[in-house]
Amino acid sequence: MDSGSNPPSGDPVADIRGFRECLGQYVTGVTVMTAEHEGALVGMTVNSFASLSLDPPLILWSIRKNSTSLDTFRAAPNFVVNVLASDQIAVSQQFAVSGDVKFDGIVYERGIHGQPLLAGSAATLECSLEAEHDGGDHYLLVGRVNRFRRHDRQPLVFKQGRYAATIEHPSGGNKLGDNGASPNLPWAVLFRQAYADLNEAIDAMRSSAGLTFNQGRLLSAILEHPGLSAEALVPLSLVEYAAAQDAISALCAKGFIARSGTGLKITASGAETLNGLLRKVAAIEDSLLEGCSKEEVLVARRVLAKLIRSAEHQVAN
Ligand SMILES: Cc1cc2nc3c(=O)[nH]c(=O)nc-3n(C[C@H](O)[C@H](O)[C@H](O)COP(=O)(O)O)c2cc1C
Repeated sequence: MDSGSNPPSGDPVADIRGFRECLGQYVTGVTVMTAEHEGALVGMTVNSFASLSLDPPLILWSIRKNSTSLDTFRAAPNFVVNVLASDQIAVSQQFAVSGDVKFDGIVYERGIHGQPLLAGSAATLECSLEAEHDGGDHYLLVGRVNRFRRHDRQPLVFKQGRYAATIEHPSGGNKLGDNGASPNLPWAVLFRQAYADLNEAIDAMRSSAGLTFNQGRLLSAILEHPGLSAEALVPLSLVEYAAAQDAISALCAKGFIARSGTGLKITASGAETLNGLLRKVAAIEDSLLEGCSKEEVLVARRVLAKLIRSAEHQVAN
């Protein structure tokens, strides 16, 4: 929700959703904790991971007391922290849902203690369980790192209940001059600035339509896939499960979506809001490109598409 002049505040016990959204302002990475003990293979998506000590090398994370993986993680002498890379959202979603299909299609090798190291991670930390502490509805687990591996991949980011990717802060925190960005600046600097400014304009547009980012995502996903259940929609929306449930409840309350049987469908007022928003975004783009000829816009699009393709090719090699 847009904080505006009256930022949401309150008692975290009375308003768990507000409390969770407030905690979502703290940006984290995403990890999958894995372990195997007495034939039970477990893995779960976790963002409570943090470094604790360099000497000795300790890390920590917390696990819900009602997690189906709890007994194995508490009993296993060793576990692995797999820090996810930015292209591993599907892996994060797969390990965030209870069930015995978590490792389906997942490629992994075995670490020094035989624990699963997920392929494609940004980093892996092989740990032995050092200590366990009670922490409300969670247990705090402390691990001693026995071996680390850092891969040259960008990490996946989690903020405000959804996935994000890192970009360098535009111009190191200073906005480019008001008289406009110099076309002589490096491409990367111009892109970052254009991306940040465009995002800011679209964010403002969306909140003036009364939608949060997550609600906007869910609304688009429901428009695209009418009749799907919330469970099927969440992975498509790329919003974390609890935050997605909150967004769905809010959209129902606003009358933008309705439940039909086990599925969800967009209402006329939801479609009108979303289409109005898309028209406004298109208008922003048009106004930003005012003064550019059709040909210039076409060439800019081609150059951008070419740059993206070439950059992806370069990263892949
Ligand atoms: C981004 C993200 C971060 C999460 N962080 C935690 C966490 O720190 N601790 C936790 O217990 N559950 C966390 N969860 C929820 C678990 O992944 C989920 O409840 C669990 O995998 C369900 O499987 P289980 O049956 O093993 O409990 C997180 C989920 C997501 C999507």
